[in-house]
Amino acid sequence: MKAEILQLNPILVPAVNERLTERYRVHRLYEQTDRDAYVKAHGQHIRGVVTGGHTGIRRALMEQLPALEVVAVNGVGTDAVDMAYARERGIHVTGTFGALTEDVADLAIGLLLAVCRGLCAGDRFVRAGQWAANPQPTALPLARRFSGMRVGIVGLGRVGRAIAARSTAFGCPVQYTDLRRMDDVPWTYVADLQTLARDSDALVLAAAADQAEGLIDRRILDALGPKSFLINVARGRLVKEQDLVDALLEGRIAGAGLDVFADEPHVPSALFELDNVVLSAHRASATHETRAAMGEMVLSSLAQALGGERPLHSLTT
Ligand code: 8YV
Repeated sequence: MKAEILQLNPILVPAVNERLTERYRVHRLYEQTDRDAYVKAHGQHIRGVVTGGHTGIRRALMEQLPALEVVAVNGVGTDAVDMAYARERGIHVTGTFGALTEDVADLAIGLLLAVCRGLCAGDRFVRAGQWAANPQPTALPLARRFSGMRVGIVGLGRVGRAIAARSTAFGCPVQYTDLRRMDDVPWTYVADLQTLARDSDALVLAAAADQAEGLIDRRILDALGPKSFLINVARGRLVKEQDLVDALLEGRIAGAGLDVFADEPHVPSALFELDNVVLSAHRASATHETRAAMGEMVLSSLAQALGGERPLHSLTT
């Protein structure tokens, strides 16, 4: 008999979906209209959950799955999973560590270039026919150079390191903060976030959100200052979003490139009016290549756990 899996959000790679369906009886919760009734009807047989990094799984749902052995996160963030409860029950929680590093770092640099060079505002200007209507060179403001910017990275994990390497290739001096200094990197450690913000032209967030909610608040944004940019490819909840909106509206920071938000898919509408903000719909890992690699890791984690092994990428067991 096939093991039963509860899938909390879609996987966009057909080959991965095919294999999931071949191997398991897959319950696609995101397709159900009455999800509570569906969980009540099927919950006792579910041995594996597939979820996204941002979605995770609530403890209340895990409590309704008495046979649960593994939560395979199709992502690297485990901040939306109750890890302590999973540990208590001996449930493996796995992630796709290493699979999305390059894409997330690429998008961080892309957002920074887009915001400091005004790429999206420039695109809107051309599309709206404004160039022809206003051909004088003063119609668009001068942009800011990225090459050589002082880049500050918050969280020097895999993604933070990949952003640092890319920034270095652009001639940017890189400093970082983390819970501790890393001895195996050439970049400068700054223990205090406010000091890092003060000394950065661009502050890039690449930290796990598990214990860092609201890390970026008015005090840090003011230290960053009116000439510097904030980039977030990690989690919206790292930032006090209203403080960020206020800082942008009042010109207390130069701009922001955001792939993540506090309450996705809701984005503060005040940001829609601002040309110095580039918005992305949590797309940092959304390439064919990365999502295929992530899907493979989800399949392996399920196979290992449901075959009685400890999954290679388990964080809880
Ligand atoms: C994904 C993420 O968009 O890895 C994470 O934690 O948030 C993202 O890479 C998401 O997990 C896809 O399901």
